[in-house]
Amino acid sequence: MQPTTLVTSAILLIISIHQVVHVASEFLPEDSKLNTIELATKYKHPPLQFEVVTEDGYILALFRLPGRSKVPVLLVHGLGDSSDTWLLRGSTSLAITLADDGYDVWLANVRGNRYSRRHVHLNPDKDPAFWRYSFHEIGYYDLPAIIDTILKTTKAESLTYIGHSQGTTASYVLGSQRKEYNSKINVMISLAPVAYLHHTPPPISILIDLSPVIEQVFKDLSIHEVFGDNTTLGYVIHRLCPLPFIGYFVCTYSLAFPTAGYDPPELEPKFSQISSTHYPAGTSSRSIVHFLQVGYREKFAQYDYGSEGNVKHYNSTEPPVYRLDQVTMPVALLVGDNDNLSTVPDVELLKQQLANVVYYNLNPRLLCNHLDFVWGRHMSDYLYPQIYEVLDSYKHF
Ligand SMILES: *[C@@H]1O[C@H](CO)[C@@H](O)[C@H](O)[C@H]1NC(C)=O
Ligand SMILES: *[C@@H]1O[C@H](CO)[C@@H](O)[C@H](O)[C@H]1NC(C)=O
Ligand SMILES: *[C@@H]1O[C@H](CO)[C@@H](O)[C@H](O)[C@H]1NC(C)=O
Repeated sequence: MQPTTLVTSAILLIISIHQVVHVASEFLPEDSKLNTIELATKYKHPPLQFEVVTEDGYILALFRLPGRSKVPVLLVHGLGDSSDTWLLRGSTSLAITLADDGYDVWLANVRGNRYSRRHVHLNPDKDPAFWRYSFHEIGYYDLPAIIDTILKTTKAESLTYIGHSQGTTASYVLGSQRKEYNSKINVMISLAPVAYLHHTPPPISILIDLSPVIEQVFKDLSIHEVFGDNTTLGYVIHRLCPLPFIGYFVCTYSLAFPTAGYDPPELEPKFSQISSTHYPAGTSSRSIVHFLQVGYREKFAQYDYGSEGNVKHYNSTEPPVYRLDQVTMPVALLVGDNDNLSTVPDVELLKQQLANVVYYNLNPRLLCNHLDFVWGRHMSDYLYPQIYEVLDSYKHF
């Protein structure tokens, strides 16, 4: 084939893929296209929006679905996710279920995602410094600023915290690093808790083994933001994954299930069209590297800068380990047997070290995976009873 023919064919192919994606997007479910405010409003809880500025200058969007409970409930999403996640199951999603029952529901967005991609002086598009954070800074800076805003606004003395995945990791950082916050959380409900990653099976364990290489690649290619809406990867995922048949096969079947655990009945093709337009919502490459380090070093510790960098940052060649015995807030652990990210033995290690575990539940649904805790089709049958059991033992009204 002539080179020009090849180029012409390539261009035609790109144009036709573009057309297919464009036409397909016309047929997506309505909730694929709605943001947090629009989703909450559609399901009858029009939210208020707050702007939270952290001690280190990040500007975070915080949403409130007002309710009459005296104790507010804060929901904190996982890695690369956003407040949308708590609304994607519509009237049976956790945020709407709690709001329908009168809870005062608050939805966090941590630094770097599509709602919190702002800073008082750093420009996320130009300053790599904006992206130098991981779950450590989220726990150390974002959570205190968010919690203080909620307590100040509601005049409540404490709140209930419900976290998913990284949303749990950051809460353990908070409890161990800023001890005064333990008393501001009446109970911390951990959905798919993550502090250790030594027992994670492949394919994640392969990434963990490659952790030093992945870190170097990010460095060499100057990749700071990952999975953001306007990054190449984010752009491609949001357009290809919602495509009928092929999108489900590539994104959910071949990528999400091997990582999170296999559970097709709970994460069906039509819902994947909704979740994959909302997720991922953007994060930093360092956030991913820090989790990989946790698995690689088999320690729940601060970011590893290498011995020289560690001496500079921590005055020690090794990064300090998070003291889980100093996390004194009451913690409820809700675990999935088929969760291939947050595995049962890793949660067991966490449970042994936390100072105040008040509840532990291995989900009765044996196929329960990492994503079912936010996206499961029938969460209200197999997950909400446990969440309400914990909520009911702390006085909210
Ligand atoms: C992506 O780009 C669009 C158009 O420039 C902009 O409106 C939007 O805020 C950007 N989103 C993110 C998360 O960067
Ligand atoms: C999850 O991990 C288990 C145990 O290692 C493994 O048997 C199973 O195949 C994994 N699931 C998927 C979808 O890879
Ligand atoms: C650094 O660590 C050494 C030995 O552990 C200690 O003697 C020294 O005081 C520390 N320096 C600072 C600034 O904390």
